[in-house]
Amino acid sequence: MKKELFKEFDGYDRIVEEREYSRKYGLDYSAHKDLADPYIQRLHPKRLNLQVSEIINETPSAKTLRLVSPERVLPPFLAGQYIALFLEIAGIRTSRPYSISSPPNQAGYYDLTVRRVEEGLVSNFLLDEVKRGDLLQSSGPEGNFYYNPLFHDKTMVCLAGGSGITPFMSMVREVVECGLDREIYLFYGNRNLKEAIFHRLLFDLSERFPNVHYTPVIEDPLEGNQCLVGLIGGGLIKNTLGELEGKTFYLCGPQAMYDFCIPELERLGIPGRKIRKEVYGPPIDITRAPNWPGEIKADNRIRVKMNDGRTLEARSGETLAVALERQEIRVPTLCRSGECSQCRVKVTSGRVFQPAGALVRKSDRRFGYVHSCVSYPLEDLEIIL
Ligand SMILES: Cc1cc2nc3c(=O)[nH]c(=O)nc-3n(C[C@H](O)[C@H](O)[C@H](O)COP(=O)(O)OP(=O)(O)OC[C@H]3O[C@@H](n4cnc5c(N)ncnc54)[C@H](O)[C@@H]3O)c2cc1C
Ligand code: FES
Repeated sequence: MKKELFKEFDGYDRIVEEREYSRKYGLDYSAHKDLADPYIQRLHPKRLNLQVSEIINETPSAKTLRLVSPERVLPPFLAGQYIALFLEIAGIRTSRPYSISSPPNQAGYYDLTVRRVEEGLVSNFLLDEVKRGDLLQSSGPEGNFYYNPLFHDKTMVCLAGGSGITPFMSMVREVVECGLDREIYLFYGNRNLKEAIFHRLLFDLSERFPNVHYTPVIEDPLEGNQCLVGLIGGGLIKNTLGELEGKTFYLCGPQAMYDFCIPELERLGIPGRKIRKEVYGPPIDITRAPNWPGEIKADNRIRVKMNDGRTLEARSGETLAVALERQEIRVPTLCRSGECSQCRVKVTSGRVFQPAGALVRKSDRRFGYVHSCVSYPLEDLEIIL
């Protein structure tokens, strides 16, 4: 089945022919090995230099940073992907991923829409300190949360919570600006309407384009006269969509939203392969995660010894990546959600807690590697960086 699908790709026959020809005449392409490097670097750069060209106030707690390239070339991306910003704040070198909220057809800039997290290191820095003209560094576009015409239905049902609206904003903009043959049902949950990012714009787009359906859902009952009150539940989804067949479901938002919405979708009989979930950072309070050992407190002090002889103190309630960064030991990170594998470290002694959903390869697990961005130290550790 897999093989058959492969044959459908453009250029497959030519590649097969070329390979047979090369085998027959013993052609050696190794001299041309590096020819593609400049193109790969342009399309998939490891680092991007960006400049803030504009800052747009979206809600009382969210702003959009419009980022352009001083080198005038931004690599292409797929609606739904993110870039990781690399920053140094108060001596701490760290990174955070932000989904691109502008559409991919807009090649001149990336919009990042950032919402304030109470006590959050990076969100507060981006919202309060960054000014027009500032230079920032980022990764190239990353992530797997996008529509793929080979596998996904043309009708997309998007469930967003809070700042989780950003990848969907990129998808909606692309669909309407490019006139794509796709239908989007967007359910957007917030505490109150004034915190709903892009609410006015989404409402207007849904009025103008028959293939965009927008349903804001608010928790605050005082706003019940303006939109639906409550949570995005199975009943609302079923009543809005009617037929559930032939639709792919996309979720992006805080863990609490996944904990509520995924069982609701399962109760509606939506198969797991039709539910796509964006990673959205480590849990807000790890001690409330399922299977967390109850006797361990978030404030427990843990000693971490590294292979170069240095030691540091960590807390059980923080990730190993955060503890390392605080001591100025930088671990490469992109997704900070246990997906991309950039932040692997090897634990040679001691136990860490990894919440359900932290994707560690079987071979990594066997040899003691963990993703430090979602690993919480439970006892004194020895690690290899
Ligand atoms: C793929 C991906 C895309 C993302 N896209 C966006 C985006 O477009 N816009 C956006 O605003 N954010 C986005 N985020 C979240 C973003 O990466 C940061 O996690 C967020 O800005 C908080 O970082 P911080 O440094 O301010 O908080 P931290 O200093 O990391 O955290 C401070 C405290 O707040 C808690 N916390 C962390 N994140 C949240 C949260 N989201 N809500 C409530 N409490 C939290 C932590 O557990 C910690 O206790 C995305 C995350 C991922 C993984
Ligand atoms: S940064 Fe991606 S898995 Fe840790």
